[in-house]
Amino acid sequence: MTSLANKLTHIVGTVFEQVDLPRDLGVVRVSDRPDLAQFQCNGAMAAAKVAKKNPREIAQIIVDTLSSNDIFSKLEIAGPGFINIDLNNDYICDHLKSLHNFGIEKTDSPKTIILDYGGMNVAKAMHVGHIRPNIIGDCLRNVYRFKGFNALGDVHLGDWGLQMGQIISEFEIRYPDWPYFDPDFKGEYPTEAPFEYSELEEIYPKASAACKDDEGRLEIARKATAEFQEGRAGYVALWRHFIDLSIKDIKDNLAPLNIDFDIWKGEADAAQFVSEIAKDLKARHITEESKGAQIIRVDKEDDNKEMPPLLFFKSDGAMTYGTTDIATIYDRVKLYLDLIKIIYVVDRRQSLHFEQVFRSVEKAGYVDDIECVHVGFGTVNGEDGKPFKTREGKAMTFRQLVKTVIAKAEERLSETNLDADIDDQERAEIARMVGVSALKFTELSNQPHMDYAFDIDRMTSFEGKTGPYLLYQTVRIKSLLKKATAQGYKISDDLLLEKEDQELALLLTEFPDIFDLMLRTNAPHHLCDYAYKLAQAFSSFYANCHILSEEDEALRSSRLKLSDMTAQQILQILTLLGIDVPERM
Ligand code: ARG
Repeated sequence: MTSLANKLTHIVGTVFEQVDLPRDLGVVRVSDRPDLAQFQCNGAMAAAKVAKKNPREIAQIIVDTLSSNDIFSKLEIAGPGFINIDLNNDYICDHLKSLHNFGIEKTDSPKTIILDYGGMNVAKAMHVGHIRPNIIGDCLRNVYRFKGFNALGDVHLGDWGLQMGQIISEFEIRYPDWPYFDPDFKGEYPTEAPFEYSELEEIYPKASAACKDDEGRLEIARKATAEFQEGRAGYVALWRHFIDLSIKDIKDNLAPLNIDFDIWKGEADAAQFVSEIAKDLKARHITEESKGAQIIRVDKEDDNKEMPPLLFFKSDGAMTYGTTDIATIYDRVKLYLDLIKIIYVVDRRQSLHFEQVFRSVEKAGYVDDIECVHVGFGTVNGEDGKPFKTREGKAMTFRQLVKTVIAKAEERLSETNLDADIDDQERAEIARMVGVSALKFTELSNQPHMDYAFDIDRMTSFEGKTGPYLLYQTVRIKSLLKKATAQGYKISDDLLLEKEDQELALLLTEFPDIFDLMLRTNAPHHLCDYAYKLAQAFSSFYANCHILSEEDEALRSSRLKLSDMTAQQILQILTLLGIDVPERM
């Protein structure tokens, strides 16, 4: 109950109940006509139907009952029965002064939530498609942590399937003398990889293409996969190098974005549970045989689309992507006893896969009291509406993309008047922050499930709804506050709200509702919209009010307080979005 709209809903709802109307019709929300009122309640219309009375009559009863409460400065009935509400300044001030943690109450049940947002495949260069899950997943992790949950990011590497056998066998063809391939080798395998990550990255597409063209080559890869999966020591030792080098490369790719994981596991870690799970599922008839394969039927009577069964074991006994995902859930549930939610930030084209996996674990009884959610995202397109490519028409690597955006930010910064005493190192760091803010804000301000077009000029602009604009505004407010302190001005705790201060003050009270909405929907764009609105409201506040130049000391001091609250609020949101703010720019 920490937004004003929420508090009012409680008060008005109670009045509805007092006059024998359903309490939940007394919902109060921020008015969509701020020129007419601060808040509105439209419940009289629905209540009229219930009570079989005229809505204006009902609205009148509500208003009459409310008017004894001195928190209201205006209660008005408009149109067919809308109730327009304004609050007393004192009430708004007291509310703002009493806010802790921006009005967000921490959960009283700080349990574990796992966010699965990496999904990178071992030995495969990170590409533009990895921008979305990493940025969205990292933001969701921040948000759940802010609410007080033990939110853990899991990279869930793709490190198990046929690709592994393809790469292993390609190495075997290239370097048959390496000890990894000698079945009689009894010594210690090297701890350091005898190859560079670049070779690994180069090998994967070659091996995969070779297997496509040549059935015999594919058979070799299949055999290597099976032997690796059965634990052939040399293959496993070689594979360990793939993992180590890939993790190092992933960390290096993500470093400029400050994105990290708590759990560095992969599909292979789950595979060890598969035989145990298979036995359990078979005994309880959750899996059944179909044409030599093992399947789990997941269709339900009320399905309105076709829901094919999940393939647990193929007819040759091989596991599938579904098998390792089920086993991963099994592992997580066993390891984190207070697990309440698993959120997958994965391409929306995998939605059928997740539906099948979620239904399977539900049917198996592995996730009682655990919610599984797929936050599916769309594609990053180029201006031509097709998946984003380099100028040469190649798929863009993650590294290239981040580099390009930071370079563009640097170019933009050279067009602005950066302080003259900024040295090259600080300049580069500011460019990184501006570039990353551009990338992350674009990503997060788009709805996750929608495709969006990558427009580097727009995203790095210092004007409009962009990351750099928000950074710029935040730095501006902070520098205003520094000036005030330098002039010896006090920032008061008491607020005085003149007409021109109210919009900003009221907007600051809305954060808890926005935050809740974002938690309910796992959609960070609500936070982005709000941060942008706040920055704009500050801009008009700054243009319309005297702040430093205000002669009335109490008013000046109150306006400095509002500026400070705005800066803190925007900074907090940017932190949740994973965006760093420079000291100056
Ligand atoms: N590695 C997978 C891919 O490239 C994504 C993994 C997503 N996470 C999961 N638990 N399935 O498509």
